[in-house]
Amino acid sequence: MAIKPNEEKVLKYMEQQGYDAFLVSDPTNVRYVTNFTASDGAQHLLFTKEGKIYFITDLRYSEDAAIECPECEVFIWRLPGKTVSDAVQHLLSENGCKNVAFEADAFTYDSYMVMDSTVKVEKIPTQGVIADMRMIKTPQEIAYQRAACQISCRALERLLEDIRVGITEKELAAMLSLYMVQEGADTMPYGNILISGARTSLLHGVPSEKAIQYGDFVLMDFGCQVNGYMSDMTRTVVVGQATEEQKTVYGLVQQMFDACNKITKAGTLGKDIYLESLKPLEGTPYKGYEYNNIGHGIGLFVHELPFDNITGETPFPVNNVRTIEPGLYIPGWGGVRIEDQILITEDGFENMTDFTHDLIEL
Ligand code: GLY
Ligand code: MN
Repeated sequence: MAIKPNEEKVLKYMEQQGYDAFLVSDPTNVRYVTNFTASDGAQHLLFTKEGKIYFITDLRYSEDAAIECPECEVFIWRLPGKTVSDAVQHLLSENGCKNVAFEADAFTYDSYMVMDSTVKVEKIPTQGVIADMRMIKTPQEIAYQRAACQISCRALERLLEDIRVGITEKELAAMLSLYMVQEGADTMPYGNILISGARTSLLHGVPSEKAIQYGDFVLMDFGCQVNGYMSDMTRTVVVGQATEEQKTVYGLVQQMFDACNKITKAGTLGKDIYLESLKPLEGTPYKGYEYNNIGHGIGLFVHELPFDNITGETPFPVNNVRTIEPGLYIPGWGGVRIEDQILITEDGFENMTDFTHDLIEL
């Protein structure tokens, strides 16, 4: 059976590094590499330099694995008294491997201790090998993410009709999730930051029983998946007429966003985006109310490389899908965030989030 393109990439990387075997254990990386969809994190892939790929799983997933990944050999690890590491050791020994690279950040302390005592060959920790591959999206991945953004925008259009005094944050969050599925998303949307009033300064606040009141900001940070590929967007609206201070803070966040826009293209550093976003705040009383990370790559996982913060030294590659999300968060008063998802191109970017940045007063 034909090896899939991302599996080829892993084999090529192993060849360059001289690894006999490579163990992929991060659940999102397993999906990225094999397109396997039924994951709950219980799968591992063992690549050998001869081009064999073992799909190490248990009986709950073995039939899915055989159907979705016919190029892999399914190996059941969950037998009485056995661990994943026993399966890995068995396969390494059967294939005569003298070393195995593994994903250092995919192991807990306990699971590493078991592997360390079970796997007898040289163990080589790696960092970010597949995360780096995931930064650059294929036309298919981009198409899924474009569709996910369009679904989110349509769902928000619908939700704006429902936002009224008395309805709770939890009710609105549930409606937003339902609308995304009705508009075509997979069944795991995340409408999960929907907060109002003074609670909008909680950057990642959880929807509560709080009822919407006249004059509230409502901050909605949400997204959905299409074939696992994600969208992420944020809009902040006002219920009723905005006060002068609400307009001022909102206007500053718009300026921060526009500042980021101006310099975003292939080769830009996340650090420069972050520093640029601060310029509109100079000389205002709002300096210091920003957050120090204002964008991230996005794909099969919501927060991927590279990030927009002071340590962001990775130039954005062409075909990286990412967010721009400046905001101001004033404890006890409220907050504003505007977030769009974009595709990096040679001379700029394509905005995948087609939704106004103007302040909406409902
Ligand atoms: N949209 C919020 C975040 O990415 O953390
Ligand atoms: Mn985001």
